[in-house]
Amino acid sequence: MISENEYNSKLDEVRKYIADRVSSKPGLGIILGSGLGAFADLVKDKVTIRYKDIPHFPVSTVEGHAGQLVFGKVEEREVVIMQGRFHYYEGYTMQEVTFPVRAMQVLGVTGLIVTNAAGGINQEFRPGDLVIIKDHLNMLGDNPLRGSNLSNLGPRFPDLSDAYNSEWRKRALSIMQEYGIQPHEGVYAAMSGPSYETPAEIRHLRVSGADMVGMSTVPEVIVANHGGMKVLGISCVTNMAAGILPQKLSHAEVMETAERVEKKFVDFVQGLLRVL
Ligand code: HPA
Repeated sequence: MISENEYNSKLDEVRKYIADRVSSKPGLGIILGSGLGAFADLVKDKVTIRYKDIPHFPVSTVEGHAGQLVFGKVEEREVVIMQGRFHYYEGYTMQEVTFPVRAMQVLGVTGLIVTNAAGGINQEFRPGDLVIIKDHLNMLGDNPLRGSNLSNLGPRFPDLSDAYNSEWRKRALSIMQEYGIQPHEGVYAAMSGPSYETPAEIRHLRVSGADMVGMSTVPEVIVANHGGMKVLGISCVTNMAAGILPQKLSHAEVMETAERVEKKFVDFVQGLLRVL
């Protein structure tokens, strides 16, 4: 586990590396999940930096993830976008997974939109639905804040009782209505993966209050809250979770649904930038 000093000096190098290349000062960060990459095409005055070129950044290994930070304007808002994220199942530590969120924090980001692909546990959901995350279950068995507290970045014991900002959720639900998207809210459970869940695990998560299940998001949201950011989370239900339908789960199904929904999802996130 790296020390507080070591972590802070790495972050400072990242901040300087980016400040030397990007003149914009984004206040809003956006993490794009599977199949949402096209959102980055909307960005004006774009500057992209590949993760592999940024000092201390982990490198994404998952197919369909571009692996770059995109800076620029959408709807006249200065944003920084993570096109491709890091997952715990790839073998990174929680601190590595959340390093880009820390980088956003030291660049001045105060609000974060997080998106993901998820399996639907709530039987009212259908593949293709967009769901506003209202809370989460951290089933990862680990926490990115474990270890010395980075006291310059946030408190030792951060509150998570409004981890998904309730005012932002309200605005997101009204934008959904405006766009003719069925408004849904749900609790997201994060499992470590990379195997999909068993039917028994899904029944367990359902009685525990979960509406969707996925393999991401929770580490980033914990760190964003520690850093004082407001967070909005959105899941795209790409499949029904294991055991709900008489069929096997596959990454191909997840990617197919994500592609089918991409335009609706991109339009929705663009609409959000007007109100968040
Ligand atoms: N389980 C876990 N992660 C996922 C799923 C799922 O069913 N669908 C998309 N990501």
